[in-house]
Amino acid sequence: MATVLITGVNRGIGLEFLRQYAQAGWTVIGTCRDPEGADEAKAIAEQANVTLRALEVRDESAINALAQELSGTAIDVLLLNAGMMGSRSLVLGELDAEDFRQVLDVNVVGLAIAAQAFRDHVLASERRIVVGMGSFLGSMASNDDGGLYSYRASKAAVHAIMRSLAVDLRPAGAIAIAMHPGWVQTDMGGPDALISTEESVSGMRAVIDGLDAAHSGRLLTYSGDELPW
Ligand SMILES: NC(=O)c1ccc[n+]([C@@H]2O[C@H](COP(=O)([O-])OP(=O)(O)OC[C@H]3O[C@@H](n4cnc5c(N)ncnc54)[C@H](OP(=O)(O)O)[C@@H]3O)[C@@H](O)[C@H]2O)c1
Repeated sequence: MATVLITGVNRGIGLEFLRQYAQAGWTVIGTCRDPEGADEAKAIAEQANVTLRALEVRDESAINALAQELSGTAIDVLLLNAGMMGSRSLVLGELDAEDFRQVLDVNVVGLAIAAQAFRDHVLASERRIVVGMGSFLGSMASNDDGGLYSYRASKAAVHAIMRSLAVDLRPAGAIAIAMHPGWVQTDMGGPDALISTEESVSGMRAVIDGLDAAHSGRLLTYSGDELPW
């Protein structure tokens, strides 16, 4: 059975990925900042095929230490899901450097360092897939509403990273994509969001299952449509 590593599994989309891949019988390594306090994830991790590991994605040495610990473990699908919206750098006039940097640190730097750290694990696997959680809000061609400065910038950067990864890993037969999960009912998406985590994650799992080399370097939605950069 294939192995998936998912970041940010204590709530939201990451928790649903953990639940669905666990149920499908995959070997699942879920990471979150505080596994002890992650009650729902802990309950899922009672299954033999699921393990929970502590990981703060702003901590480069923690990422590298986990990668080292897992050396020799092939990771078929690396799901770089952990992310944040930030609260103070969304509206012009309220931009705040510290808040802005934190969003970039988590969404961009953490994701890139994790992609690098787990690259050899992915290349040692059969499926060789890296998914970076991007967003429609990071699509510059789709930005007609403005605002959301730090979040949009961070997700545009995620898209750029996934595109570079796709190019760099192509000779090794790996696939790297950015995904838009839809507007999803989570703490981040809020209650007015259009779809449930179940619908988003079922859709993304089907897209991931159907990936081939031709998809690499693209930004795909949970329903498999391609979005412009
Ligand atoms: N919901 C949407 O409509 C939507 C749309 C487009 C893209 N996305 C993207 O999808 C991903 C998941 O979003 P979501 O809706 O599930 O958000 P969420 O409910 O706010 O969950 C965010 C997850 O990221 C984790 N995280 C945040 N900062 C972290 C850090 N420094 N180190 C490790 N983990 C950290 C959180 O852990 P803690 O609980 O420890 O903070 C949590 O597990 C994000 O990348 C988001 O940008 C969401």
